[in-house]
Amino acid sequence: MANHVSASFLTRANALFRKNLTYQKSNIWSNVRLIVIPFYLCVLLVGIQVLFDTQVNNSPDNRCGCRCIDEKNGDGKCERKSCGLQYSNQTQASFCALPNPPPLLSLLQIPSPETRSVDRAHGSCRRTGSCPVTILVTGNNHSLGATLSQNLLDTSFTVNSSDNFFRNLAYNVLGTTSEADYTNYYDPGIHSDLPIFQIQPRCIPPTNLSFSFRQSPVTFHKEVRCVQGLVLWRNNSVEVNDEIFKVYRQGNPEEIINEVVAAFDLLDTGKNNFNVTIWYNSTYKGNFKLQDRRVKYVRVPRSVNLVSNAYLQFFRGSGTKMLLDFVKEMPKQESMLRVDIASVIGPVFLTWVIVLLFPVILNSLVYEKQQRLRIIMKMHGLGDGPYWMITYAYFLVISTLYIICLMVFGSAIGLKIFRFNDYSIQFVFYFLCINLQISLAFLVSSVFSKVKTASVVAYLYVFGSGLLGGSLFQFLLEGLSFPRRWILVMELYPGFSLYRGLYEFSVYAIKRNLNGSDGMKWKHFSYSAMDEVFYIIIIEWFLTLIAAYYIDRVSSSGKDPLLFLKKVFKKPPSPQRQRHGSTVTIGMEKLDVAQESEKVKQLMLEPSSTSHAIVCNNLKKVYPGRDGNPPKMAVRGLSLAVPSGECFGMLGPNGAGKTSFINMMTGLVKPTSGTALVQSLDICQDMDRVYTSMGVCPQHDLLWETLTGREHLLFYGRLKNLKGSDLHQAVEESLKSVNLFRGGVADKPAGRYSGGMKRRLSVAISLIGSPKVVYMDEPSTGLDPASRRSLWAAIKSAKKATAIILTTHSMEEAEFLCDRLGIFVDGRLQCIGNPKVLKGRYGGSYVFTMTTSSEHEKDVEMLVQDVSPNAKKIYHIAGTQKFEIPKEEVRISEVFQAVEKAKGNFKVFAWGLADTTLEDVFIKVARTSQAVNVFS
Ligand SMILES: *[C@@H]1O[C@H](CO)[C@@H](O)[C@H](O)[C@H]1NC(C)=O
Ligand SMILES: *[C@@H]1O[C@H](CO)[C@@H](O)[C@H](O)[C@H]1NC(C)=O
Ligand SMILES: *[C@@H]1O[C@H](CO)[C@@H](O)[C@H](O)[C@H]1NC(C)=O
Ligand SMILES: *[C@@H]1O[C@H](CO)[C@@H](O)[C@H](O)[C@H]1NC(C)=O
Ligand SMILES: *[C@@H]1O[C@H](CO)[C@@H](O)[C@H](O)[C@H]1NC(C)=O
Repeated sequence: MANHVSASFLTRANALFRKNLTYQKSNIWSNVRLIVIPFYLCVLLVGIQVLFDTQVNNSPDNRCGCRCIDEKNGDGKCERKSCGLQYSNQTQASFCALPNPPPLLSLLQIPSPETRSVDRAHGSCRRTGSCPVTILVTGNNHSLGATLSQNLLDTSFTVNSSDNFFRNLAYNVLGTTSEADYTNYYDPGIHSDLPIFQIQPRCIPPTNLSFSFRQSPVTFHKEVRCVQGLVLWRNNSVEVNDEIFKVYRQGNPEEIINEVVAAFDLLDTGKNNFNVTIWYNSTYKGNFKLQDRRVKYVRVPRSVNLVSNAYLQFFRGSGTKMLLDFVKEMPKQESMLRVDIASVIGPVFLTWVIVLLFPVILNSLVYEKQQRLRIIMKMHGLGDGPYWMITYAYFLVISTLYIICLMVFGSAIGLKIFRFNDYSIQFVFYFLCINLQISLAFLVSSVFSKVKTASVVAYLYVFGSGLLGGSLFQFLLEGLSFPRRWILVMELYPGFSLYRGLYEFSVYAIKRNLNGSDGMKWKHFSYSAMDEVFYIIIIEWFLTLIAAYYIDRVSSSGKDPLLFLKKVFKKPPSPQRQRHGSTVTIGMEKLDVAQESEKVKQLMLEPSSTSHAIVCNNLKKVYPGRDGNPPKMAVRGLSLAVPSGECFGMLGPNGAGKTSFINMMTGLVKPTSGTALVQSLDICQDMDRVYTSMGVCPQHDLLWETLTGREHLLFYGRLKNLKGSDLHQAVEESLKSVNLFRGGVADKPAGRYSGGMKRRLSVAISLIGSPKVVYMDEPSTGLDPASRRSLWAAIKSAKKATAIILTTHSMEEAEFLCDRLGIFVDGRLQCIGNPKVLKGRYGGSYVFTMTTSSEHEKDVEMLVQDVSPNAKKIYHIAGTQKFEIPKEEVRISEVFQAVEKAKGNFKVFAWGLADTTLEDVFIKVARTSQAVNVFS
């Protein structure tokens, strides 16, 4: 016999831990598949990177242009290549090496004809493309401004072929309508077919000239066109601003679009100081996005030179000139496009990879809930504490392994998002994320009761987080106008806080890949906003853990988790319902039932007496009415005392309330009123302690499909504080007693058992560790006669030190196993007592059956009347008749004689005389009490 000290916290934790371990061992392949998923996704990312490298990063367009200069073998292979600006097109040029950058004309940016500032009177120039371009001037001294304005533009176009080429052009004010490039050695304004404009005060006569220049080895021919330049005075800078702002009022066709070349504010410029503000259009600068950190060149030097030159001429006369011949880029080495596409799309992928664990955890939690495995473990003494601790630790270990695999694979395979950032900061981040994820799964699992709905919702969360993160969240994050505090609010959604962290990792990896700066280190912790993400995750982790634990406690104690909400909205109970409740107590109490409740009353007076393992005192269960139906009275006051060593059988038709009773006793539902003492412990208060000495065999087998019978018994045995050799001995005995021993059945997974084998295993589970009380709900349904016999033997031998309550529909079983029986109809015990006593009381008659041809039915009736005048016909069909004959009126020998005599008179096909069975008693009791209840 095992010792009866209940198992400690650690013992129970250990039991669950070992069960989970065996469970995982049998699920090894699905675990391996899970851990391999990161590997697949990393390979996919690397594949995309390779594809991107060959198609984009390494494409000829994204590096300096080259030409073959030595093809002497003639086999199509190039022996020697020469790369450089001269072989490059516009996109290639910016990647070329530039040891000695060429000089470049400095041009003004002038607006295209259709956007030039015009007043309405001259609107027709838009059509001919001959609109003048405008330069605005303002300042504190109007007369000074007027003088400078005259000096701004030269009157003629001069080309002196003997002079230096650039010096020559520098005399003129030249501009282009095309945008500048990223660098300053390739200018589409010069290196393309577009004409160059020379800005002059007047274009009469139209001077259309051209020049050509050589930039080794190509010679460019440029056409020079005249464009009229208007230099206009404005009273102050407010006016200038106002006029330039008109560019954007494009909604109204009456409004003019007003782009200007440049505007100068001369401020307080005078004889002694030259002070000028220049307006220029920097929209050409290129956008400052993650993918495009290059900045376009802005055409501003020439306008600075223009106004400086005008000021110098105002001092020294028109003979003196300050000329800007050319500008020159700094030397640089050859480069090529290096976009780390894996890091760019990494956050979306990695969000998926990490969040993918969420459905796995949630499903496993909801599965244990849906299959009621959690509750059956609880009934066998596994408290909430060990369950939480071990389940959490288990998921944490799995997730951590998963994350480590992800980081190791990712780094090994060369993903820069892993390699370029500090590993400790990455690990801490992922570790926090999975903790939040697990506690979130615990919290969410309380909402679901079906695995299917849980998976659908969980996968929506997975894909939603990745896709919304990649599109919406990242978009808002990069758009600088979105308020930062709203970003913080969005990060409260766990999918987005994960995304944010990954995004920061990717940004640092991309930067390091582009220009060799640092990856993310702890010193960037607060600069990169990682600190906010960390704090949010840590706080949410604690809050969800607390909420999950609270909801679990509340719902496992049978209350609704949203109880506090319901209280607020609850209507006061209607008085009608209470009246209904009081009428049901009226009923005819049978003598034996009354005796039982007397006994219970006595026992309740001395609650510490241990003679009776189970004492139920007037237990009631009322299910509230739903959808307008009246409340359902499942159990209407049940008093019962079962001593240790007794097996109490509960018979009753379906729906009589037997299962409700068992559910109350096992803590699944709370009684509406009344209570029960189990081993002197109140089930309403001390259920957790009751569980440690309880065994349950539920109506439906609650087993893990992949665990073997032996593993089940080992687990429940450990929960019952069996250890070492005791444990193994108990398991062996238990397997033998329920006939699950031969043929290695015990070591097959329970999922492959037949219905009967599962049933026997359930019974063995309920009996292991010699519990003090055992509840069995129809233990032998679906068993073949041989197994049933051995099962009964097992129950009978377990009965010695245990109080057993069992419900059954098999009268044979009730008769064989039970010391006492109660017939339970319509929520109430109708009678209670030893099977023999019951039979005597309710079945004081024999049943006489005789089959003849139908014309002799009357003769049979006469015969029975002779034997016993009080006999009642209870059954009659096609010549077969059944009569109930009171025992005290007949002797069996008389019946035999009468039948022998009758056989001489007519043909008797068959006949029989039987004592009443328990079945007859049951039917009788059930019928009469149902009739009474309908009546009342
Ligand atoms: C404005 O500039 C002129 C020179 O063009 C100068 O003679 C005059 O004194 C200036 N006026 C003021 C108010 O500074
Ligand atoms: C051309 O330039 C040379 C040298 O600077 C100069 O001597 C000559 O006068 C210039 N010719 C014209 C037409 O400006
Ligand atoms: C600018 O100032 C002059 C003289 O002070 C005045 O006549 C003119 O109306 C002003 N222009 C505007 C647009 O205010
Ligand atoms: C600046 O340049 C952009 C691009 O050509 C143009 O759309 C915009 O209207 C310009 N803004 C002004 C004030 O001229
Ligand atoms: C240029 O003008 C600004 C604004 O009026 C003024 O603050 C600054 O002192 C001036 N600079 C010089 C050198 O006069």
